[in-house]
Amino acid sequence: MTTGKVISCRAAVAWGPGQPLIMEEVQVDPPQKMEVRIKILFTSICHTDLSAWLGENETQRVYPRILGHEAAGIVESVGEGVMDMKEGDHVVPIFNGECGECVYCKSEKTNLCEKYRVNPFKSVMVNDGRTRFSTNKDGKKKPIFHFLNTSTFSEYTVLDSACVVKIDSNAPLKNMTLLSCGVSTGIGAAWYTANVQADSSVAIFGLGPVGLAVAEGARARGASKIIGVDINSQKFVKGQAMGITDFFNPKDLDKPVHKKILEMTGSGVDFSFEYVGNLDVLREAFLSTHDVCIS
Ligand SMILES: NC(=O)c1ccc[n+]([C@@H]2O[C@H](COP(=O)([O-])OP(=O)(O)OC[C@H]3O[C@@H](n4cnc5c(N)ncnc54)[C@H](O)[C@@H]3O)[C@@H](O)[C@H]2O)c1
Ligand SMILES: [Zn+2]
Ligand SMILES: [Zn+2]
Repeated sequence: MTTGKVISCRAAVAWGPGQPLIMEEVQVDPPQKMEVRIKILFTSICHTDLSAWLGENETQRVYPRILGHEAAGIVESVGEGVMDMKEGDHVVPIFNGECGECVYCKSEKTNLCEKYRVNPFKSVMVNDGRTRFSTNKDGKKKPIFHFLNTSTFSEYTVLDSACVVKIDSNAPLKNMTLLSCGVSTGIGAAWYTANVQADSSVAIFGLGPVGLAVAEGARARGASKIIGVDINSQKFVKGQAMGITDFFNPKDLDKPVHKKILEMTGSGVDFSFEYVGNLDVLREAFLSTHDVCIS
């Protein structure tokens, strides 16, 4: 009944860096050519949402904006030309879309599509450089900007169909939000990008959702030693369930983290992963690896 019409719904709108998100009524335009409008049923929070909300990078400071990129929902309607999805399909949004036709999409070495790649600075739709969200302020229509090709902190959102993946309708939508980002990023990093080998050693800095998913990926590939490093010692409990075999808290050390890892492993780990988002931690992660190729 809503196909082709503007939908009024509630969304959490960010009006400025670090300002509380405001739950308010917004208008969501119908999807245009090769776009999809989704009813979001579940959405979760990733650290990347927090960074954008705080405007840590000043070029990200685009407001008002609807954040959120991990979600699961149901297709409400599709725009002209969309053949692979229809109303009622269960889907997850993906911020790193694929057109399937560009040189990057066709490459076996990357999937950073030239048109729909992850881009935290992009805030409008590819089709026309405009937004599909708006709000009425003092009788005037005011655009609300998009975030990371997705904007899922809204009951309805519009995405390029290249940024939507259809999933099995039997899959529990509540859990599928993590496939949008955290789990795919972490498991993909261990499984595909690093190609972790059986019996290898791994260090993971930061045991948030992404770091924990790295542990799961490393365990699935047969890593024998998986060292978790986090300033929150409680993360070891959850970490053990995901495959972490050893853990320490940098705050308990009287030496640099990499020296502790060299002591634990003899010469450093085979693979290290940084999932804090901190340059100093990244340096420690590099220094924690050994300099001899094992394969
Ligand atoms: N595709 C991608 O590239 C992608 C996807 C998701 C997240 N990210 C990025 O990955 C990072 C992690 O995301 P998340 O959602 O798991 O974050 P999170 O905030 O949930 O978890 C970060 C963890 O790091 C720990 N930590 C903080 N400072 C630390 C330090 N100095 N040493 C060790 N541990 C420390 C925290 O206690 C926490 O457990 C963020 O920077 C995020 O922007 C990137
Ligand atoms: Zn994310
Ligand atoms: Zn492409």
